[in-house]
Amino acid sequence: MSELLSNNPFVVGKYISERYFCDRKEETEFLVKQIENGRNVAMIAPRRMGKSDLIHHFFNQAEIRENYHVFFVDIYATTSLSEFVYTLGKEIYEQLKPKSTAWKEKFFQMIASLRVGFKLDSMTGAPTFDLGLGDIQSPQTTLDEIFAYINEADKSCIIAIDEFQQIGEYAETNVEALLRTKIQRCRRAQFIFSGSKRHMMSNMFNTSSKPFYQSAITMGLEPIPMETYTDFAIHLFEENGKHLEPAVVSAIWQQYSGYTWFVQMMMNELYALTPSGGTCHSGMLDEAKRNVILSQENGYKDLMSNLPPRQKVVLQAIAKEGVAQNITSSKFIKKYNINSASSVQAAVKNLLKNDFVTQEDNTYRVYDFFFSEWLATMY
Ligand SMILES: Nc1ncnc2c1ncn2[C@@H]1O[C@H](COP(=O)(O)OP(=O)(O)OP(=O)(O)O)[C@@H](O)[C@H]1O
Ligand SMILES: [Mg+2]
Repeated sequence: MSELLSNNPFVVGKYISERYFCDRKEETEFLVKQIENGRNVAMIAPRRMGKSDLIHHFFNQAEIRENYHVFFVDIYATTSLSEFVYTLGKEIYEQLKPKSTAWKEKFFQMIASLRVGFKLDSMTGAPTFDLGLGDIQSPQTTLDEIFAYINEADKSCIIAIDEFQQIGEYAETNVEALLRTKIQRCRRAQFIFSGSKRHMMSNMFNTSSKPFYQSAITMGLEPIPMETYTDFAIHLFEENGKHLEPAVVSAIWQQYSGYTWFVQMMMNELYALTPSGGTCHSGMLDEAKRNVILSQENGYKDLMSNLPPRQKVVLQAIAKEGVAQNITSSKFIKKYNINSASSVQAAVKNLLKNDFVTQEDNTYRVYDFFFSEWLATMY
């Protein structure tokens, strides 16, 4: 248990180890197989399903850890090629920092365009990646240098680029083509591209006119099967001297359609509510849900305070419906006092873009189940 920061074995928000990670055996094997056979992978799955954790879990497999340098680059918050280059450079340097290899020593030598900014740590004397974005004067040059550096690696590399669809939103227009060329020519690294915006990701990898067309094997990610998650949860309770009724897990799993984060959040709270030696039962579900929602409430209030009034109205209307259909119908518009069908359309477009809402065929729902419930009942 010493790996855990808390004594709650239902870990949320970061990958710790195999022990606290449920299943994903086939998906992990699939990734191992693709990478070992020289194929890049594009992983496309809804938000909160467990994409990032799966990549960390894959990186943590003995055969991967031993044979590859692994890098995890999350580009969710980046908006330009400069920021991409900065994030990639920083991740590579931070990962290599604790290692003492001749390759690491060459970092600032080969990535000469960054040498201007780099400083020595006043405590250890080691070089630090203490750069500002402004130090990336010419992102294309730095990118060339980073790829040249990777090509000199002493081991093969795996670079996971999380939230990859973001490159489609960059200020520059040619980033996809530019990266595709670099990646194709890179002999020493393989890539995992993951993203949650199905439409954008699928468009990037499956449209014949797009640069990344057929450059990766695409994979999806389904919910962890209910029985498998139930066994995992019961095991973690028992291991810690607590008990869990299987009906609790099935109720949660069904309520949140098996979306991993929501299920795991509920189990984390239920574990906390169960006294040592006690049994977690269905009577505790309401309290657990209320606590989880309250723990997120400040964040929800912030989100709402930053949302334009029309989007707020539509968001709450969708939340009240649960799964909303015919949102431009006069019935829906009247029921929720919205101005017009066109204002619903404009609002929904932004809500989708900013990940508040998800769409499936012609139905919409607030993607965060807890937020949805808060909007519908407490806001
Ligand atoms: N296999 C698993 N076993 C246990 N918990 C998991 C597993 N996969 C994911 N989780 C839980 O779900 C949370 C969300 O997972 P993760 O961040 O990987 O999802 P994601 O698909 O990358 O989400 P986002 O689209 O928001 O980035 C994790 O922090 C963890 O608590
Ligand atoms: Mg993620």
